[in-house]
Amino acid sequence: MDIQVERLTEATLDGAVETIRSLPEFFYERDFVKAEANYREFVSGHKDDDLFLVARSGDQLLGVVGATKRQDADGVYFLASFAVKKGQRGGGIGRRLLESLEGELAARDGRMMYTETTTASYCDSTRAFYEAVGYTMVAEVPDFWADGDPLALYQKRL
Ligand SMILES: CC(C)(COP(=O)(O)OP(=O)(O)OC[C@H]1O[C@@H](n2cnc3c(N)ncnc32)[C@H](O)[C@@H]1OP(=O)(O)O)[C@@H](O)C(=O)NCCC(=O)NCCS
Repeated sequence: MDIQVERLTEATLDGAVETIRSLPEFFYERDFVKAEANYREFVSGHKDDDLFLVARSGDQLLGVVGATKRQDADGVYFLASFAVKKGQRGGGIGRRLLESLEGELAARDGRMMYTETTTASYCDSTRAFYEAVGYTMVAEVPDFWADGDPLALYQKRL
């Protein structure tokens, strides 16, 4: 399969929303609302410090990833709204998307990347992925997302 990684645009916006919404077992409804708002703001050109990328093969959207910049810290980016379509997982698309994103941010002012997930079991595979691509868990905050759902904060130096 010939896969392109490129910036999220108006043309791929609906596919990106559909991709993240196809994974209700990993996200809360409020995450979808925030993801869609982030995608739209980026596409409209109002968030130049942020970066959203998609992976596609022809017309088929396979994955989406983004990062938002912390305005109150030095070269710090937070990963946002990361999803690879169900039938496509485990095939290297997530790694490719993330490495493209990290490369582009490092070439700007990017110093540190963070990602927020959970140590709850519904994200065991997500944590395995982050560890495989070089992230280290630096904090765990109990009952953060909801009671019984802790925050796991992962860090990678760019
Ligand atoms: C997390 C996610 C984006 C990763 O994308 P992906 O395309 O499946 O990942 P890749 O195939 O690129 O995997 C990259 C590495 O992670 C490892 N990995 C991925 N899933 C794994 C798992 N369940 N267990 C162990 N290792 C895993 C792979 O072995 C691979 O290592 P390698 O490159 O050294 O062989 C994707 O699985 C996904 O959409 N998950 C559901 C949504 C989600 O969790 N989003 C993040 C919210 S914070």
